[in-house]
Amino acid sequence: MSYDPLVSNRHQVYGNEDPSFNQSTGFITPARPKKGTSNWIKFGIPVAVLVIVAAVVGGILGTRKHTSAATSASASSSAAAASASAKLADGLLATATNSYYMIPVYPSTTATSAYSTPTFNTAAAGWPTDSFAPATPSVLSVRPDRPRLIAPAYKWAALPALIASDPYLTYWNASIFSNASQYDALPAVVYYMDGDSGILDVARQVKQRVKAFGYVYRMTNDSHWVDRTWEELQNAAGNGTTSWGPDVDRWNAAHFLDTAELSAAYGIAYDWLYDMWTDDQKAMIRSTLIEYGLFPGVQGYTNSTDYNGWWDNDIWGNWNCVCNNGLTMASLAILGDDTTGYAEQLLGLTVDNAKANCAYAVSNDGTWNETNDYWYFGTTGHAEMSSSLITATGSDYDLLTVNPDFYKTGLFHMYGTGATSLFDYGDSGPNKYTATANSIIFYAEQYNQPQYALFQRDRVDAADPWNMFWYNPQVQGAFWDGLALDQTFINPGDQWMSMRSSFTDANALYVAVKAGTLQGHQTHNDLDVGDFVIDALGTRWAGELGDGDYLSPYYFSNDTQGSARWMYYRKMTEGQNTILIGATNQDVKAQPTINYGSDNATQSASTEFTPDSSSTAFFTTDMTSAYFNATSVKRGIRMINGRKQVLLQDEITASASVQWRMHTNATVSASGTSATLTLDGQTMDVSILNAPDGATFSTSDAVRLSTDVTPPEPDQPNPGVTVLLITLPAGTYNLQVLFSPQWNDGSSSVTPPSVDLDNWTLTSHDST
Ligand SMILES: *[C@@H]1O[C@H](CO)[C@@H](O)[C@H](O)[C@H]1NC(C)=O
Ligand SMILES: *[C@@H]1O[C@H](CO)[C@@H](O)[C@H](O)[C@H]1NC(C)=O
Ligand SMILES: *[C@@H]1O[C@H](CO)[C@@H](O)[C@H](O)[C@H]1NC(C)=O
Ligand SMILES: *[C@@H]1O[C@H](CO)[C@@H](O)[C@H](O)[C@H]1NC(C)=O
Ligand SMILES: *[C@@H]1O[C@H](CO)[C@@H](O)[C@H](O)[C@H]1NC(C)=O
Ligand SMILES: *[C@@H]1O[C@H](CO)[C@@H](O)[C@H](O)[C@H]1NC(C)=O
Ligand SMILES: *[C@@H]1O[C@H](CO)[C@@H](O)[C@H](O)[C@H]1NC(C)=O
Ligand SMILES: *[C@@H]1O[C@H](CO)[C@@H](O)[C@H](O)[C@H]1NC(C)=O
Ligand SMILES: *[C@@H]1O[C@H](CO)[C@@H](O)[C@H](O)[C@H]1NC(C)=O
Ligand SMILES: *[C@@H]1O[C@H](CO)[C@@H](O)[C@H](O)[C@H]1NC(C)=O
Ligand SMILES: *[C@@H]1O[C@H](CO)[C@@H](O)[C@H](O)[C@H]1NC(C)=O
Repeated sequence: MSYDPLVSNRHQVYGNEDPSFNQSTGFITPARPKKGTSNWIKFGIPVAVLVIVAAVVGGILGTRKHTSAATSASASSSAAAASASAKLADGLLATATNSYYMIPVYPSTTATSAYSTPTFNTAAAGWPTDSFAPATPSVLSVRPDRPRLIAPAYKWAALPALIASDPYLTYWNASIFSNASQYDALPAVVYYMDGDSGILDVARQVKQRVKAFGYVYRMTNDSHWVDRTWEELQNAAGNGTTSWGPDVDRWNAAHFLDTAELSAAYGIAYDWLYDMWTDDQKAMIRSTLIEYGLFPGVQGYTNSTDYNGWWDNDIWGNWNCVCNNGLTMASLAILGDDTTGYAEQLLGLTVDNAKANCAYAVSNDGTWNETNDYWYFGTTGHAEMSSSLITATGSDYDLLTVNPDFYKTGLFHMYGTGATSLFDYGDSGPNKYTATANSIIFYAEQYNQPQYALFQRDRVDAADPWNMFWYNPQVQGAFWDGLALDQTFINPGDQWMSMRSSFTDANALYVAVKAGTLQGHQTHNDLDVGDFVIDALGTRWAGELGDGDYLSPYYFSNDTQGSARWMYYRKMTEGQNTILIGATNQDVKAQPTINYGSDNATQSASTEFTPDSSSTAFFTTDMTSAYFNATSVKRGIRMINGRKQVLLQDEITASASVQWRMHTNATVSASGTSATLTLDGQTMDVSILNAPDGATFSTSDAVRLSTDVTPPEPDQPNPGVTVLLITLPAGTYNLQVLFSPQWNDGSSSVTPPSVDLDNWTLTSHDST
């Protein structure tokens, strides 16, 4: 059995987050105001005015500082040579990936030269400085040479030497060649319309191939790759040997993500292979791009009766990032050759719109508005757009910094990544293709956060053409060296905490838990205040069910209490690892409060790390406001016994039935106040401490209660999932559940004292 969380092969689609999307007709049917769009803009901004506006913006914002290497001095080049040989000797830090969860496996020995404080070592070989550095950048004033997008010529020229001196670049280069050969052997991407979710998967496959083929062409000058790219472009224009969509709308503008990704693919192909295309080919690429990409983009922005651009209006999420990015990359690619004016017009719209929306999909604690999974799509769009603007025009126009907290989103991803897999609350599961976590390799340099690049470079999705240009080979050290084991994300919309025993041990104990509000997440969340996951012994013991079927009727209807979304098991409170009261969903208006603590333990350089025996962290939430028929509901979770066990405590006063629920893939043997969970050859003991009368474990399948309202379409089955339950009548309870992974390392389990949640502190559970 193998499961790759990054390349899921489940049938998953995504999209339709538009709250006004009509599931039965498949069309967007709202009367929505086009905020901030004046009549003047609708009829096209005169180019001269746009140039002035952009020049003023560029002048005010100035250029961004880019890290660059001093490569001229001989002293620094000999230091660079020494550093290069040390890097090559260290090789890749992760020696393998775990085949089940595809997480990096770090060796248990310590190479002190490599496993040190994260930094950018400017004495090591790095990228030369870009000679294109306009004093007053403008989105309409592009660099004189090609490529413009992400990978300028000076970087291609420097790349072979950097590949030779850097083990990561060497590995990624070889992987991209191998991937390109695999795609080469396949027929051109086959058009597939996946119901209301459109052609997003195939659009991203085209983009993935164009990136790989374009990369290999530029590294070999072998025109085979140009011809192979042309085959994909013609195919996606409906000019190939198989059909591609209806002539009027081949790129499916009603689901604009598809249009945007194909526009990005066309832009990359046009730009990276610019010198190889004949004038006829260039004209054909442009005409298709304009007809099916840029013109629908302009309509979406400017035509008040065309709703394909709904995402440009106050949508702080992946749609805004992906759509603005595709239009931006494509426009930058053809700027100057485009005689229609659409590229110029769009560049006058997309940058400001992304700054007002995409940039704010990250809250002030770094959390992504939608979920951990949608972070991949949104940040990929944001990073591609920022990077393309910088390389093509010399500035990001503050897209990176307009939200001063955006930089924290790398930490959101690192702490949302457990010892096995993501804290995958809410909708999680769509195919990723070109949406990777490699945005944080770009962010590492842009925000001077070297640990982001060090974290991501060992991941399975890192062999990406973007990283050949985003990765700063001067980065060195180990991301975990000095990194806090715990992190709390306290924005009221999110309120979640990550705790663990190690960053480098695949068997580590990991707990993530959330409270947060239940509305305002682009209907990608669940009714899940109090939800948690637990990893230990290399597997996930308390887990999530992920997304439902996106084609289910009203799946994305809205986030009001009566929404049909909350009738699907995977989205309702029953389907979460939390307390259920009165067999009723949580209140969508919940405003939970939290308290938390951490001893702020940090991992040291060694991968062989054991926290102190007193090391601990805890998170508590008063989640009374999430419930009907309860006067008090509080939950707390903490690590005990030197981060070897977990205590989960609930204090409840309810006037309706109470159920404690946890979903697990383990085989469960429950008896009275004890349950034994077995999974992947490992064992977890679970017990109820100080059990109130009647509190015993039982189990059920992961299916809806017979008393629930019937959803518009049956739930997806959850095969292999068992719900561990404690079921009680209305009353007042203190439920203390102790999780004791059977480490088999000679360590013994402890039984913690009983302490009320309000009295939890870092030392409240120390053994006396
Ligand atoms: C990139 O990888 C290919 C395939 O393994 C190899 O032939 C080529 O030499 C590599 N390029 C560099 C600059 O090392
Ligand atoms: C690309 O190559 C890498 C390394 O060989 C491999 O792990 C990965 O699955 C490939 N990706 C795709 C999408 O084929
Ligand atoms: C490809 O052609 C360019 C332009 O002529 C040249 O600079 C580059 O060195 C060539 N690369 C290879 C791998 O032959
Ligand atoms: C596809 O064919 C149409 C109709 O002949 C043409 O206008 C367009 O430029 C072609 N595009 C590509 C990419 O081949
Ligand atoms: C605006 O969009 C509507 C609906 O797609 C279309 O019928 C109309 O022709 C468009 N107007 C303009 C000026 O393009
Ligand atoms: C998510 O974005 C929407 C705007 O699209 C905003 O209203 C909402 O407050 C944001 N949610 C959080 C948790 O920040
Ligand atoms: C069960 O395992 C699958 C595959 O690893 C995972 O996606 C899912 O979240 C797990 N479910 C639970 C309840 O842990
Ligand atoms: C929310 O969606 C449901 C269908 O799931 C619909 O009946 C209801 O009218 C919608 N409410 C709002 C405020 O849009
Ligand atoms: C941990 O760090 C936080 C944030 O800096 C601080 O408020 C807290 O007091 C620290 N806790 C301990 C035990 O040092
Ligand atoms: C609260 O409990 C009462 C009595 O059991 C029940 O009729 C009512 O439906 C419950 N309310 C909710 C929102 O569950
Ligand atoms: C909490 O701790 C305080 C001070 O130690 C003690 O007075 C109080 O009784 C405790 N409260 C509960 C509910 O245990």
